[in-house]
Amino acid sequence: MIDRLWSRRGKTSPQEADLPLGDNVPQHVAIIMDGNGRWAQNRGLPRIAGHHSGMKAVKRVTKAADRIGVKYLTLYAFSTENWKRPKPEVDFLMRLPQEFLALELDELIENNVQVRMMGYRENLPSYTIDALEEAIHKTKNNTGLVLNFALNYGSRAEMADAVRSIAKEAADGRLNPDDIDEQLFSSRLLSSELPDPDLLIRTSGELRLSNFMLWQLAYSELWFTDVYWPAFTEELFQEAIMEYQRRARRFGGV
Ligand code: IPE
Ligand code: IPE
Ligand code: MG
Repeated sequence: MIDRLWSRRGKTSPQEADLPLGDNVPQHVAIIMDGNGRWAQNRGLPRIAGHHSGMKAVKRVTKAADRIGVKYLTLYAFSTENWKRPKPEVDFLMRLPQEFLALELDELIENNVQVRMMGYRENLPSYTIDALEEAIHKTKNNTGLVLNFALNYGSRAEMADAVRSIAKEAADGRLNPDDIDEQLFSSRLLSSELPDPDLLIRTSGELRLSNFMLWQLAYSELWFTDVYWPAFTEELFQEAIMEYQRRARRFGGV
């Protein structure tokens, strides 16, 4: 296995390289899909054209993740801070889940994909949440790739909520403070049903987390590209996975 990993290194492009190995594929890949606005502006288009085009990248990457054998794919689609944007842009973003699922839900079902959502359902327009809930319901028994949309998600809010709920239970005498440990805290987060991401990808050249899964990314491998999200390809996704496979994860050990 080490030989095969090494033999990839001389390859010049991901197309020439072998497919990522069947073993050591990251179980959970999380992506901060960034750069839609700049992609559009560089083409003289309005920012929303970038968001629209970004949907096609979502489809490409979902198919690639499924084919490679990733089990969980979490996509950061809208943060709790993105409400600060101009209302027309927010409105456009809120329409995208409905549009994406109208086009893709049948194919997701055919491919045994399970759709989930991680984020605050309140404050989302009914057409956004209804479309997602329908997809979640129709795919809940699927056993293939878990496609998890982080929508109206914010890591600090998520952690503050977890602390509040734990504190209330302790104050009510339903929980012994001595029983509060990392596992209990994790179980109170919006990601409680997911393993921690093994690999985090961020597009667009920004090197920050922007309030995304701060607790869960403690030991994730990080991979950045300057490419804007709408231009992100299956080949780049594969490149990120192969880079992940070359890394030695130590978790503080040797
Ligand atoms: C990412 O692209 C999509 C969302 C945050 C919803 P941006 O809209 O942030 O694009 P840039 O970063 O301004 O180029
Ligand atoms: C992070 O991107 C949020 C999503 C990709 C949904 P932003 O574009 O909102 O992040 P900042 O503002 O550059 O940190
Ligand atoms: Mg951005």
